[in-house]
Amino acid sequence: MTDIITEQATAAASGAAATEQFRSKQRAERIDADTKRVDTLVTELLTAAHDILCRHKVTYAEYDALKSWLIQVGEDGEWPLFLDVWLEHVVEEVAGQSREGSIEGPYYVPGAPRLPAEATLPMREDEVGTPLLFQGQVTGVDGVPLSGATVEMWHADDDGYYSQFAPGLPEWNLRGTVIADEQGNFKIHTIQPAPYQIPTDGSCGRLITAAGWHAWRPAHLHLKVSAPGHQLITTQLYFEGGEYVTDDIASAVKPELVLDPTPVADDSGREVTYNFALDTA
Ligand code: DHB
Ligand code: FE
Repeated sequence: MTDIITEQATAAASGAAATEQFRSKQRAERIDADTKRVDTLVTELLTAAHDILCRHKVTYAEYDALKSWLIQVGEDGEWPLFLDVWLEHVVEEVAGQSREGSIEGPYYVPGAPRLPAEATLPMREDEVGTPLLFQGQVTGVDGVPLSGATVEMWHADDDGYYSQFAPGLPEWNLRGTVIADEQGNFKIHTIQPAPYQIPTDGSCGRLITAAGWHAWRPAHLHLKVSAPGHQLITTQLYFEGGEYVTDDIASAVKPELVLDPTPVADDSGREVTYNFALDTA
C-alpha cells in the first residue's frame, strides 16, 4: 500500500490540490491595498531584483531559464508550495504571532471532523507509526482555563503524506477538530509523523536539485488553537533530535516549538504535554 501511494503522489497533483485549497479560503480574497503601498512594495521588490541582476551579471540564457522556470511553477500549481516554503516564515515573524506561532503551510483544510476532548484522530486501521498522546490545556495569557477551546490538528502520515493532497488516503486521515473540556483540557491520540519531503518531481524540486539543497522539513504537527474572544494561534510542533529540526527547508522551527515526548509506562508509544496561552482578541 505504501508503495502504491509513493508511486502515485505527484507534484502536479498535490500542487493542484494546494492551489485549489488556497483559492477557496477567506484570506485569498482580494485586498484593497492603496496605490502608494503597492507602488512602494513592488518598486522595492523590483529594485532588489535589478540589483541582483547587475551584481551577478545575469546573462540572457539565465534570464530565459528563470522565465521558463517561473512559467512552469504556475503550470505545476506549485506557487502555494514555493511561497509557504521560502517566504511564509518571514510573513509569520512580521505578523508577530511570536514565540508560539509558526507557518500554516499549504495543507490546512478547514472543517475536519469535530471530536471530544479526549479523542483519536481519524486514521486507518493499520496506520503505521509510533502512537503519540498529545495533551495539554488551553488558557488565556492570564492562566484562566478556556472552556470549549478548539484544537485543530493536522499532520502527515508515516510516509510524509497529507490526506487530501496525496492519493489513496481517507479524506480526513490524521486531521481533527478537538473540542477541549470545561477546563480547556484536551488529549489527542495520534501517531508520530515522519519528516516531510516537498515534492521533488515538480518545479520546486528542480530548483532544489539545481541549487544543491535538500527538500526536507522535520516531522511536525500542525495546529490551530482558538477560543471565543481570543486570538487564534497557528503553529507547528517538532520533535527533539529529529532529522532536519536544525535544517528545515521552510526555516519554520523555533526552539519553543520542539517537543520531547517521553515513553508511556508500557512502552507502547510516547506522550507529551504542551499548553497554549491565547491572547485576548
Ligand atoms: C510545505 C509543506 C508543509 O507540510 C509545510 O508545513 C510547509 C510547507 C510545502 O510543501 O510548501
Ligand atoms: Fe506541514
